[in-house]
Amino acid sequence: MQFFIDTASIEQIKEAKDFGLLDGVTTNPSLMAKEGITGKENIRNHYAKICDVVDGDVSAEVIATDFDGIMEEGRALAKIAPNIVVKVPMIKDGVKAISNFTKEGIKTNCTLVFSPGQAILAAKAGATYVSPFIGRVDDLTWSGMQLIHDIAEIYAIQGFDTLILSASIRNALHIVDAAKAGTDVVTSPLSAYMGLLKHPLTDIGLEKFLADHRKAKG
Ligand code: E4P
Repeated sequence: MQFFIDTASIEQIKEAKDFGLLDGVTTNPSLMAKEGITGKENIRNHYAKICDVVDGDVSAEVIATDFDGIMEEGRALAKIAPNIVVKVPMIKDGVKAISNFTKEGIKTNCTLVFSPGQAILAAKAGATYVSPFIGRVDDLTWSGMQLIHDIAEIYAIQGFDTLILSASIRNALHIVDAAKAGTDVVTSPLSAYMGLLKHPLTDIGLEKFLADHRKAKG
């Protein structure tokens, strides 16, 4: 399972890389805006900076929603660095664009996926990644995790190559449950990965080991 970080903050990306487990990065227009990055040139320069830090795949989302606009923007994003993955929304023109990007050898991440049917379309179009949003489904009191189970089952039965990238992760339990559901990738804020570290018995056990060591030393 791969660990991606869901942020446009270079500082957080560097911190995650320093932890030693970082496989890639996902961003979206909201995350770019949060970092105060606006305007085509600034956004492209920022993606270039992220790609300088990270060797793995970096998802860069298009703003256009029409086929020609998505293709033009996606091709320009793909030229920034070889590890750019063009992130395209699950809309009719988006699916058509993913199919075209696939033919051109450009990697894609189909985003804003909330149903197994949408995940089938993304895979049929040849998306490299499909991004089902766990947290946002949970927010509606449906099961985001059931969505990951359903997509994993369908992709396995059908032999689709598209990688499941579980997104909108809100906590460490989401990561564990997505792993059990068969996700290929999770993208998450660094805080949720750090949550995986925590167990009170680890803290108590370490404290005792160190105390015993100190005692033995006299
Ligand atoms: C995924 O690629 C999205 O950027 C992200 O995971 C959405 O998360 P949110 O629902 O916390 O905004």
